Amino acid sequence: MKRHPALQDLSRDHQLLLLQCRQIRWLQEGDHRAHDADATLRNFLAYWEADGRVHIEEEEAVLLPHLRGNDERLDSYSDAVIAEHAMFMREVAGICADPTDVHRLYALGGLLEQHARFEERIVFETTQAVLSAADLDALWSASIAFREVRRGADRIGARGGSSCVVKKR
Ligand SMILES: [Fe+2]
Ligand SMILES: [Fe+2]
Repeated sequence: MKRHPALQDLSRDHQLLLLQCRQIRWLQEGDHRAHDADATLRNFLAYWEADGRVHIEEEEAVLLPHLRGNDERLDSYSDAVIAEHAMFMREVAGICADPTDVHRLYALGGLLEQHARFEERIVFETTQAVLSAADLDALWSASIAFREVRRGADRIGARGGSSCVVKKR
């Protein structure tokens, strides 16, 4: 299903995340395109601080409250997403505490990839099928409002940023 504009910026975030996951997987597989372990970790942590963490914040503060109470599947997906986010935060903190444990980074990369695909293929698809046009419009406005405040000017969906989602208000 074509992604609704309310979810397009979150989907763009997922593309950034999946690029990080691919770098981690390449490192794990010894692919010639991989950067070394230090650079892969450094790039991932820079991504996490600039985009990953705030993406989770938006999903929890903006997306999930719009999903809950509409449909049992969306309620249960929301619980699963929250639990996985908490696990990601713990894993990133653990990796920061011991950056030499590259296997932990490999595991996290795989889990983040699964999470993004679950959100894209299951959560977002169900959201678009279940929410009314008015509810999707309200979600869209809330996402834009969040990004105007919480995203730097060069970030996806920020004012003056690279989003192609432009909503007249
Ligand atoms: Fe998420
Ligand atoms: Fe996400």
